[in-house]
Amino acid sequence: MNTLQNRRVLLIDDMPTIHEDFRKILMPHAPAKSALDATRAALFDDEIKCVAAPFDVDSAHQGPEGLAKVVDSLAAGRPYAMAFVDMRMPPGWDGTETVERLWQADPRLQIVICTAYSDASWEEVLARLDARDRLLILKKPFDNVEVLQLANALTAKWELTQRATSQIDHLEEAVQERTRKLSDANAALQAQMHERKRLESQLVQSEKLASIGQLAAGVAHEINNPIGYVCSNFGTLESYLAHLFEMLAAYEGAEPRIESPELVAELRGLRDRVGLDFLKDDVPALMRESSEGIARVRQIVQDLKDFSRVDSAQEWQWADLHQGIDSTLNIVASEVKFKADVVKDYATLPQIECLPSQLNQVVMNLVVNAAHAMGCERGRITIRTRAEGDDVLLEVADTGSGIAPENLSRIFDPFFTTKPVGQGTGLGLSLSYGIVKNHGGRIDVTSQLGHGTTFRVVLPVRRPAPGPDALSAARPRASEAAVRD
Ligand SMILES: Nc1ncnc2c1ncn2[C@@H]1O[C@H](COP(=O)(O)OP(=O)(O)OP(=O)(O)O)[C@@H](O)[C@H]1O
Ligand SMILES: [Mg+2]
Repeated sequence: MNTLQNRRVLLIDDMPTIHEDFRKILMPHAPAKSALDATRAALFDDEIKCVAAPFDVDSAHQGPEGLAKVVDSLAAGRPYAMAFVDMRMPPGWDGTETVERLWQADPRLQIVICTAYSDASWEEVLARLDARDRLLILKKPFDNVEVLQLANALTAKWELTQRATSQIDHLEEAVQERTRKLSDANAALQAQMHERKRLESQLVQSEKLASIGQLAAGVAHEINNPIGYVCSNFGTLESYLAHLFEMLAAYEGAEPRIESPELVAELRGLRDRVGLDFLKDDVPALMRESSEGIARVRQIVQDLKDFSRVDSAQEWQWADLHQGIDSTLNIVASEVKFKADVVKDYATLPQIECLPSQLNQVVMNLVVNAAHAMGCERGRITIRTRAEGDDVLLEVADTGSGIAPENLSRIFDPFFTTKPVGQGTGLGLSLSYGIVKNHGGRIDVTSQLGHGTTFRVVLPVRRPAPGPDALSAARPRASEAAVRD
């Protein structure tokens, strides 16, 4: 690669004869400028043959003119490779100022300062220009070959510098491209690791919940039978008691007709001893309370069954979200009741196609988290539902501690918890996130430190079209299969 492209040279000198001399040296085949030149050339034959491509020489007679040419050449995309600049060009800029300005316009320009004077302030000049690698000094009177070789060497240097710079640019681009690819690959890897961790934790958590569900289902089943016959016997007992009271009233009505005063006194004594009047009042009250108690136990059993959905397979079904929320609230009542009031703000909702027990887990995680966020003061947990087009919205808002901004982006990460060891696994929200995602929905959070937090869950009314994710969600995993048994 020795084809030198840019042979453009600018000469800035206030002496017109110098221009003629340079042209003769650098452009020997250019038409002679004058008859005198032609004669001189013929007589002295002082032309030096150019060994490389010819130079393209431009002339300027003062610094500003030279600067204008440099600026124009750059604008035209034909920069000069080098310039010869005279040191003294009265009345305008001297060589130093000219060079300074030229470099401001084009820092790549190679420059030779030409001077006839032995100037004592060269150090100053060099210090001021501060670009010694692009500057040479040529003392007059100069030899033609000096000029020619300076031009050859500096135009070649300009060319090589250009090539080196563009290679460095390419290299930098290549490095940047490679760095970008590496960081993309790194980000993809991180995302994969994150997703894997989330899936693992989801599995752990759903297995944990599956066994809780199984336990709950077992307990519910065991209680269900005895509570069934207690309830039915209780109904019979109530009607027997009504008969007994009727009978008692008849006996009491017949009492005045008893003739034996001893028997009457004995009956009165007995009535006083057993407190018959009190019994008549209290027995119905006791029956009423017991009946309420039995009804509550039945409700709890029903909630447990609803919550774990033991009586239905883990299959997509149309379900009432409010019913799921209510049964979940009953299950977590003991976690919540001493810490906060629960306010229900329900809208009329359509049934939604979902995996109900999974949505119950979400509600449970959100409500328990809200209860845990309460401080010493009793707070409020508002559960709001809305229908929004083809979606339903479920909001769990609390007046608790709020979440620090630096934690906000991490709360859905598996194992992220701010709770003391043993109190939180940090899996609740990551599991909830996975469940909502499987339902084709989204979950987001807003929080104000010291004021409270609101989680918003948006779920489509209809199950999302089964993609690869949804298919795997619909396929029961080992843990889910266990819940069904
Ligand atoms: N309503 C809330 N108010 C304040 N902080 C919350 C709330 N909900 C979640 N957080 C923060 O997010 C963290 C992660 O919650 P997540 O439910 O995933 O785990 P956890 O509650 O710590 O443990 P567990 O696995 O038992 O649910 C919590 O430790 C808590 O710092
Ligand atoms: Mg939690």
